[in-house]
Amino acid sequence: MKILVTGGKGQLGTELSAILKSGKSELGKIPQRFIDAEVTAIDIDTLDLADAGAVDAFGARRAAAPFGLIINCAAMTNVDACESDPEAAMKGNAIAVRNIAMLAERHGAGLVHISTDYVFSGSAGKPYAEWDVPAPATAYGKSKLLGEQYAREACRRVFIVRTAWLYGKNGNNFVKTIRKIAAENDSIKVVHDQVGNPTNANDFAHHVLKIAAGGDYGTYHATGGGICSWHAFAEEIVRLSGIGCTVNACTTEEFPRPAPRPAYSAMDHLMLRATVGDEMRPWQEALAAFIESL
Ligand SMILES: NC(=O)c1ccc[n+]([C@@H]2O[C@H](COP(=O)([O-])OP(=O)(O)OC[C@H]3O[C@@H](n4cnc5c(N)ncnc54)[C@H](OP(=O)(O)O)[C@@H]3O)[C@@H](O)[C@H]2O)c1
Repeated sequence: MKILVTGGKGQLGTELSAILKSGKSELGKIPQRFIDAEVTAIDIDTLDLADAGAVDAFGARRAAAPFGLIINCAAMTNVDACESDPEAAMKGNAIAVRNIAMLAERHGAGLVHISTDYVFSGSAGKPYAEWDVPAPATAYGKSKLLGEQYAREACRRVFIVRTAWLYGKNGNNFVKTIRKIAAENDSIKVVHDQVGNPTNANDFAHHVLKIAAGGDYGTYHATGGGICSWHAFAEEIVRLSGIGCTVNACTTEEFPRPAPRPAYSAMDHLMLRATVGDEMRPWQEALAAFIESL
């Protein structure tokens, strides 16, 4: 099978390409149908997905050897930059998705499109299930929600997979930031009034392939097991890293950001349980494995 991974130089795209190439993740073997897949990874330097003509031409060049699966990891992920430049967010997170979904439809490919907890308002009191009604509060969340809709409209074989609080070996993320600032300071402050699910990118990539192999098109939530605050997450990062730094709790008000962060973004994995099974491991276990691997 021929697989196209977009956002191939990003945090998730590199992880996915790596496990597809090696045939295994840290959780074990990837699904049999993806072993020996021919993987093409692209990023914005080779193809801007927001450019409909360029995506069309790329699809046409590959028409004789069509992709069987497209995994769209490309996105404009800087939440504050999306807030200050909504047109760019619209291009990167909605129009780009429409273009790649149209390519998937033309090739007869399945499309896995990665989305986010930011499609929800963040005001819930219990984990968001797939059937909960999105109500994004930010330009990032709004553009990602529109991207989900465009994906469903343009392609009949779509898996929308929402995740949150992602960290991996490649790129900047919360785990790397906390390790760096904790190593440079005796104490740090981290917000305790925002909660969610830390998610190891390697684990997530494994589950993305499991979902795609299952063939049950639809909308999925896939995040690390268990719920914590950014403060508790930071404390565990510092503890597991063996860094002598005190992690103090503070409030969101003490850390104003251009785009509001969701206070509550934990997700329930109803669709995973109903289809391929929910084996997302507890976030502490996944974090320990990640820090061990660094
Ligand atoms: N990171 C998280 O905590 C998190 C949480 C929930 C959901 N997600 C979702 O998970 C997915 C992967 O996230 P990630 O952390 O791997 O993101 P990432 O590291 O920012 O990677 C995204 C990649 O897409 C590229 N890209 C941006 N616009 C593009 C365009 N128009 N055409 C082609 N490529 C483009 C980016 O290039 P540039 O860097 O040059 O822009 C980047 O290499 C995204 O859909 C994101 O919304 C992430």
